[in-house]
Amino acid sequence: MNRREPVLEHIFEKVDRIPNFPETARRALALLQNDEVDFAELEKVVRHDAAITANFLKLVNSAAFGLPRKVNTLLQAFSLLGINQIKFVLIASCLGEYLKEPIRGYGLSPEEIWLHSMACGLAAEALARRAGLHRPENLYTAALLHDIGKIVLGLYVEGELHDLEKTLKENPGLTFMQAEWMVLGADHAIVGAELLRRWEFPREVYFAVRAHHDESLMLQGRLPALTALANALVNLMGIGVGVDTFAYHIPEGLLEAAGVGEKDLYPVIVETFARVENLKAAFFS
Ligand SMILES: [Fe+2]
Ligand SMILES: [Fe+2]
Repeated sequence: MNRREPVLEHIFEKVDRIPNFPETARRALALLQNDEVDFAELEKVVRHDAAITANFLKLVNSAAFGLPRKVNTLLQAFSLLGINQIKFVLIASCLGEYLKEPIRGYGLSPEEIWLHSMACGLAAEALARRAGLHRPENLYTAALLHDIGKIVLGLYVEGELHDLEKTLKENPGLTFMQAEWMVLGADHAIVGAELLRRWEFPREVYFAVRAHHDESLMLQGRLPALTALANALVNLMGIGVGVDTFAYHIPEGLLEAAGVGEKDLYPVIVETFARVENLKAAFFS
């Protein structure tokens, strides 16, 4: 196989060209730090961004979020969702901005990676409830954005990504991450973590993203463990995995580090599957 120069430097140069995480979401999340947040003030901030507002309303009106009635305004939605759900939907509403093109080389359409990311977020939400996590917003952010490095790699080093598929085909024993290193000199977990660091997300968030395929790093805290577990479950469910045939098992010690039991997994999978089906119905039918 051809050896290539590592292109990590080159990739990190390109990271700067990815549009920043929306300012509206940052400001809204800052307001939501306060449990007594004034919803009218929050609405003023969010409605400033028409795309986020439209995504927010479409998401909460899908059966995946199970609101008792259809809502037409952000204010109505806020009053029916809890604060944690508002945070989840806000971050999810920004995802679409980064998923407009297919991710070549990974064999993923924008729809597939969107569903995979949403499924991981939803699985994380169900796991957090069972793990009794009090402030889960960093987990939601990490779970929803865990594969954002694939978008960076897919958008900016397309030529190399064609070789990624070829390398995987020619070397069936290779893991996906090994193939990324051989072809790109980097992997999507490192690149994604670097992007989130530059976007000034908390360290806890980019560490969890960095750790989501690393079996020793993911055991180093509850948040990385829950993020990696959510991703492993979604991979096992086969949602938007493309050519990523790695991490289909749950490493030893991961459940303990995540603070959930084996008995929690089946209900989490059932719930996530149902909610993903609802998303598909609302967005792709
Ligand atoms: Fe990943
Ligand atoms: Fe993933």
